[in-house]
Amino acid sequence: MLPVPVILLGVLLLALTTPTTATGQRINRKNVVRRFNPVRTTLSTTTPMQVGNGNFAFGADITGLQTVLPFNILSSWCWANDSLPTTPGQTDPSDYTGMDYWTHGRLVNYAIPNPAEPEISQWLIANPHRVNLGRVGFLYKGRNISTDDISDIHQSLDLYTGVLTSKFSLHGQRVTVTTIADPDDDVVAVEVQSSLLKDGSLGVFFDYPLTTGANKFEAPFVGNWTAISAHTTGLKKVTAHRAVVSHLLGSTTYYNLLQWEQAGSIQGPFNGTHRYLLQPIGRSNKFTFTTRFSESIKGGSGSKAFRSVKSSSTRWWANYWESGAFVDLIASSSSDAEELQRRIILSQYLLAVNSAGKDPPQESGLQNNGWYGKFHLEMTFWHLGHWARWDKFYLLDRSLGVYNRFLPSSIARAQAQGYEGARLGKMSDPSGRSAPGAQNALLIWQQPHPMFFAELEYRAAAAAPSNKATTTLRKWDTLLDELATWMVSYAWWNASTGVYDLGPPMYPSSENTSPNVTYNPTFELAYWRFGLKIAANWKVRQGIEVPTAWMHVLDNLAPLPVVDGAYSISEDQPDMWTNKDYTTDHPSQIAVYGLLPPTPGVDVSTVNATMAKVLEVWQLENSYGWDFPMLAMTALRLGNVEGAVAWLLNEHFQFDDVGNPVGTANVVPTPYFPASSSLLFAVAMMAGGWDGAEGAHFPAHWGAKVEGFTASL
Ligand SMILES: *[C@@H]1O[C@H](CO)[C@@H](O)[C@H](O)[C@H]1NC(C)=O
Ligand SMILES: *[C@@H]1O[C@H](CO)[C@@H](O)[C@H](O)[C@H]1NC(C)=O
Ligand SMILES: *[C@@H]1O[C@H](CO)[C@@H](O)[C@H](O)[C@H]1NC(C)=O
Ligand SMILES: *[C@@H]1O[C@H](CO)[C@@H](O)[C@H](O)[C@H]1NC(C)=O
Ligand SMILES: *[C@@H]1O[C@H](CO)[C@@H](O)[C@H](O)[C@H]1NC(C)=O
Ligand SMILES: *[C@@H]1O[C@H](CO)[C@@H](O)[C@H](O)[C@H]1NC(C)=O
Ligand SMILES: *[C@@H]1O[C@H](CO)[C@@H](O)[C@H](O)[C@H]1NC(C)=O
Repeated sequence: MLPVPVILLGVLLLALTTPTTATGQRINRKNVVRRFNPVRTTLSTTTPMQVGNGNFAFGADITGLQTVLPFNILSSWCWANDSLPTTPGQTDPSDYTGMDYWTHGRLVNYAIPNPAEPEISQWLIANPHRVNLGRVGFLYKGRNISTDDISDIHQSLDLYTGVLTSKFSLHGQRVTVTTIADPDDDVVAVEVQSSLLKDGSLGVFFDYPLTTGANKFEAPFVGNWTAISAHTTGLKKVTAHRAVVSHLLGSTTYYNLLQWEQAGSIQGPFNGTHRYLLQPIGRSNKFTFTTRFSESIKGGSGSKAFRSVKSSSTRWWANYWESGAFVDLIASSSSDAEELQRRIILSQYLLAVNSAGKDPPQESGLQNNGWYGKFHLEMTFWHLGHWARWDKFYLLDRSLGVYNRFLPSSIARAQAQGYEGARLGKMSDPSGRSAPGAQNALLIWQQPHPMFFAELEYRAAAAAPSNKATTTLRKWDTLLDELATWMVSYAWWNASTGVYDLGPPMYPSSENTSPNVTYNPTFELAYWRFGLKIAANWKVRQGIEVPTAWMHVLDNLAPLPVVDGAYSISEDQPDMWTNKDYTTDHPSQIAVYGLLPPTPGVDVSTVNATMAKVLEVWQLENSYGWDFPMLAMTALRLGNVEGAVAWLLNEHFQFDDVGNPVGTANVVPTPYFPASSSLLFAVAMMAGGWDGAEGAHFPAHWGAKVEGFTASL
């Protein structure tokens, strides 16, 4: 039997974590969510409206399908390779040798493109790439439909159920289309209502592009629609209400199961295309079908009916909104509160669609391809940390297995470079291979992310009604041990200064310094202290002795570099604040007191001076994405709530009409989802506070209501 104080503590913790607002009244979440249902009355040529489930997403144009624009259908599982180069000596991945760089007196091999092996280097960068699964659209009397044929458009997405409704007139006749993704399967279910169905004027086409590694970014449209002979499709297993289209590109084959409920016939491919036509032939003004994508033809043996997908979606999304933490700012008449609330709700929707898959997401999620569809391990914390802070661990858990899956290749990487432990890669495909690239090989800030995830999970587990702390400690122990071991092995003892240095060569997170001379970056030094401290605590909590080497590095890392009274990016920049090459891109040094809790050596007045310098000289027009939430979190810790709000609404930090985070002209296309996820991470800090400053930190006159948040680290 538990002693009474423990029971009382349990009850107290339960009371603290049960979602209620300060006034004790539950937020009407449905009301807040639906207030921001996106509506479109004109065609957007840059972003679709999306339905999806984190592993699979469908981008719809104004017709609810992909009739006038080929927005994409992307998944976490479908990838393809281009054929290998034929240049002698560069015909296989094993021919690639990387580059040897001097690293503290020895040659270390890095996965950097080798000028003597350009073809195979580039092939490894561009392959495998993520496949655009296809396109679904309407045809009118067998002909293509253009925007000129469409009028009286009203499209709305019900965020609370995941149901997209698109109404328009086609050649003067009304058409209503309902588009829904299955929360558990790679299925889109569609219901069409129109009198145009009665005489067979309306048909549905299915088409399949070749996705190649030709371009680093393919946005907003992915794939090549004219290279018809370079890939093959075929119609299989046709019955009265079902057919399978197989698609073979390179050595990848996948299947598209089409299933329709009313009378219909399918034919294709039409000469010189990969187009198939599903023609409703009943006399009904309703036509209902599903399209399901699968790696195996067995997965093509039946899919749920429209009605069933609709009820699954309705249930899933209601649970999504009603569980976990929530912020309600709608009592405020402030337009800032309204816009922040809009960004919060739409980001919550889009991240569940795009960034909750079996692997970490690519930066453009499942909307279009950037970096060939690959994902970046240094970005995982920005992408996924908010799931923990909003108490949606069930979505975070989907992808965190990637760290254990990549552990063998990370250990191999460390060993090949003469280090102990496991060194995480960067630009990744599901196999764990890190693409060749100077930044890819020389960044280090991806390494402590798992420590941050582990600590957030540990805090939640320890506070849960049934204490799961021991399970969490065991779950992460091997991984944290290997990662910390590399961090210790990588830190270089500088005998002349008596401290451990990080780098050279290395790239700091801003990627705008010269790697052969860059060392002791501010953010990475603090992150090393933060990560190693968590790894050490992990051992202490399990009653295991902390390796002395860990403590020696932890206690003797180089001090944070200061230039003109403010933190610089790294120690090798005496002209940090006067050289325009440095006062641009990510001001990550600000994160040492903001994203990160203070670690030994962080001086608050120096942070404050750094913030003042950033406001004075930083070229914010070149900043993007997570920079603004990162600055907001520092403003919060410095006690400047209004300043934090201003960062989250900065003119260079924009979200479009349906909530897509806008990219930059020359660096990243729209959407750049780290903007959405870091926004939610910062908002969680405003809503739950942090250790020593628990509770909400919104402008007092907003009357903000919050539910289910705990304090941040
Ligand atoms: C692409 O090629 C690589 C290297 O040969 C291989 O490991 C991988 O499995 C291939 N991926 C696909 C999707 O074909
Ligand atoms: C960095 O040093 C390596 C040799 O260690 C050299 O091959 C490489 O070109 C240098 N990089 C730059 C940007 O100077
Ligand atoms: C219909 O659209 C497809 C895809 O854009 C195109 O390849 C085809 O040529 C078009 N057909 C006509 C008749 O314009
Ligand atoms: C599509 O592929 C064809 C044939 O390989 C090629 O000529 C064309 O340039 C490609 N188009 C694009 C947009 O990459
Ligand atoms: C397709 O090609 C065949 C044979 O070349 C021809 O008989 C048929 O009319 C063509 N169909 C269309 C729709 O162009
Ligand atoms: C040791 O640290 C000093 C000061 O940071 C630096 O100038 C020097 O290059 C370091 N020594 C080596 C061998 O890297
Ligand atoms: C931070 O700097 C501002 C001026 O930029 C000053 O007004 C404020 O008192 C400073 N706060 C702290 C905590 O040092």
